[in-house]
Amino acid sequence: MSDPQLVIAARVQAAITAAFGDDHAGTDPVIRPSQFADLQANVALPLSKKLRQAPRDVANEIVARLDVDGVASSVEVSGPGFINIKLADGWIASQVTPLVGDVRAGVPITDRPQIIPVDYSSPNVAKEMHVGHLRTTIVGDAFARTGEFRGHTIIRQNHIGDWGTPFGMLIEHLLEVGEDTEEGQLLVNDPNSFYQAARAKFEASEKGEGHGDFATRARKRVVLLQAKDPATLETWHRLVDMSKVYFNKIYSMLDVSLTDSDLAGESMYNDMLPGICDELEERGIAVIDDGALCVFNEGYVGREGEPLPLIIRKSDGGYGYGTTDVACLKYRAQTLHADRAVYVIGAPQALHLSMAWDTVERAGWKGRTEPFHAKIGNVLGDDGRILRTRSGKSIKLAALLEEAVERAEKIVEDRGYDEETKKEIAHAVGIGGVKYADLSTARDSEYVFDFDRMLALSGNTGPYLQYATARIRSIFRKAGVSVEDATSPITITEPAERALALHLLRFPSVIDEVLDGVYPHKLCTYLFELAQAFTTFYDECPVAKPEVPVEVRDSRLALLRVTLQTLVTGLGVLGIPVPERM
Ligand code: ARG
Repeated sequence: MSDPQLVIAARVQAAITAAFGDDHAGTDPVIRPSQFADLQANVALPLSKKLRQAPRDVANEIVARLDVDGVASSVEVSGPGFINIKLADGWIASQVTPLVGDVRAGVPITDRPQIIPVDYSSPNVAKEMHVGHLRTTIVGDAFARTGEFRGHTIIRQNHIGDWGTPFGMLIEHLLEVGEDTEEGQLLVNDPNSFYQAARAKFEASEKGEGHGDFATRARKRVVLLQAKDPATLETWHRLVDMSKVYFNKIYSMLDVSLTDSDLAGESMYNDMLPGICDELEERGIAVIDDGALCVFNEGYVGREGEPLPLIIRKSDGGYGYGTTDVACLKYRAQTLHADRAVYVIGAPQALHLSMAWDTVERAGWKGRTEPFHAKIGNVLGDDGRILRTRSGKSIKLAALLEEAVERAEKIVEDRGYDEETKKEIAHAVGIGGVKYADLSTARDSEYVFDFDRMLALSGNTGPYLQYATARIRSIFRKAGVSVEDATSPITITEPAERALALHLLRFPSVIDEVLDGVYPHKLCTYLFELAQAFTTFYDECPVAKPEVPVEVRDSRLALLRVTLQTLVTGLGVLGIPVPERM
């Protein structure tokens, strides 16, 4: 443990126990960074109330027993009882030196690994992925990568919408148009148009305005699908396969780690549904209401205060999205043995999830699994509404991503790179910029999709951070030293060196904050501040200038190596590509 806040917290806690006894052993020492010192312990004020003593006396008692030999260079009580702690330069150097050459940038593999299924992306078959799916894909992927990096067992679960009544009409439509036709291939290239064509046929046929008995056939097809008729299932499989091609195209454009083996769609739970409904009914947890099988959980009321049910079997015998999510959590608890089940899903689905989860809990199927809804906020257009094209149709994701890469290409146009390098950098900057914009906003807040801001080379953006790594590499090139050869111990003399080193020591704690709350934006903020600390350092501390003594140069190169490693590792777990040059 080298995070200064954690080290000081532990020492202050020990001093509290020594001064006031074991009763106060668990007291939060309230450690905060401060403008008057590196860290401030603010525990004396709350503790003084419990002890009925003057806060300043309490602070003095703690300081008298505080053992920070070698860690702090000064400890002072100020104001009504704040404890100001300045860390010793030597201690900071001794903590940051072991990070030189550490590819994990100080982050240990956890000794308490958890099993964590992560539900993310989860688009719908024969539908366009929209920007909402884009966001759950990017946030979920960052969480999954970070969890794996820390040593947890992450089970990616792409809960695609691959089942339900619309599949009757979709299958009929596919059978009619054929797969290798332009209309069939829409499934891969423009799934919404495929869906709309099927829908239009269905509606026309309903109204007797053409397409014969299409609607009747579509309805029969649903029944055949549910009865697992082999020929129907085969067409359904092909339909899903063609959608997979579309999803994978987007995933590979995005550098997202999802593969076909992570698919765990709604259809996977089909066989569990009748048994779940029967058991819930037998045990009296579900009751028939108006012909439908419903679960009434406490605390859910509709607009008029009437109890709100989770319908698990409709009056026509069909199961719905809610039933599937009951089965889904049961499966993640009992079959995957999840410690924590993370669902990265739009905020509006909170009620739905909570009703399903309460049902699982009441049935006693949840075990020790902690379900967690990582709520995702909307992505807005510059008109402040949910992002759509001008014609009001949902925006095509592939086109949006292509535009990001094209715009990025313009940024690096005149830097003299050959065509291939330019393409690589443009991809990294364009896609990285879009992903970073998604990640750097708190996941439950809305944000406005704005290419100019996403691709800006300054500010809290992906390109700014990518550029910081490229600058560090170029410092090494100019110094004629390879990154791997920077192995010197780090010494600290200048304030900017000190600030950079102190910031580096916080990285492991930030990783844990990302995992605890599914908050990748905290890592973004951290990396942005790190890049700023690097910029200040490089402005104030010359590295390879002739007047710099060789030991100082080597120490500074080593510090830069740790900075580069931390930036690259941090961007890596966020899923942001890092080009070597920019
Ligand atoms: N397919 C759903 C949608 O597009 C998201 C599914 C999320 N996962 C879940 N277990 N409900 O809104």
